Amino acid sequence: MKFFIDTANLEQIKEANDLGILDGVTTNPSLMAKEGITGTENILEHYKKICSIVDGDVSAEVISTDYANIIEEGKKLAALHPNIVVKVPMIKDGIKAIKYFTDNGIKTNCTLVFSAGQAILAAKAGATYLSPFVGRLDDISFDGIDLIHQIRHIYDNYNYKTEILAASVRNSLHIIKCAEVGADVVTCPLSSITGLFNHPLTDKGLAQFLADYAKGNS
Ligand code: G3P
Repeated sequence: MKFFIDTANLEQIKEANDLGILDGVTTNPSLMAKEGITGTENILEHYKKICSIVDGDVSAEVISTDYANIIEEGKKLAALHPNIVVKVPMIKDGIKAIKYFTDNGIKTNCTLVFSAGQAILAAKAGATYLSPFVGRLDDISFDGIDLIHQIRHIYDNYNYKTEILAASVRNSLHIIKCAEVGADVVTCPLSSITGLFNHPLTDKGLAQFLADYAKGNS
């Protein structure tokens, strides 16, 4: 399973990348705004900075919602760097645009996915990645992990190549559950990744080993 970090914060991206286990980055307009990155030119420059840190796919989201403008915006984003993946919302014009990008060798990430039906449409359009939002489904009392499981089953039935990129993954348990049900990728905050390190028996055991070593060498 690939690990993507879901942020536009360059320090956190560097920290995750330095761990040596980062495979890519996802962003969205809200994450850009959170870092104070506003205005088209600044946003485009920021994508280039992210691409210079991480050697992996970087999702850059369009803000257009009609076919012609999604195509124009997506081409501009894709031209920034070979690792840019054009992130397109799950709407009719978005699906049409994903088909266009697929036919023209541009990678895509279909975002704001909340149902298996939407997942089928994106796979048929040839999306590179599909982003079902786990946490936001949990927020409204639907099991987000169940949706990942259902999509995995459907995609395997038809050998769809679209990778399931579990998004809105908010904690370390979400990551483990996504791995159990066969997500291809998880994207999450740095804290969810570093949370995987934690176990009190690791801390206790290491403290004991170091104390015993010190006894023998004092
Ligand atoms: O990748 C989608 C993600 O940014 C949404 O996360 O926590 O706002 O639901 P959240």
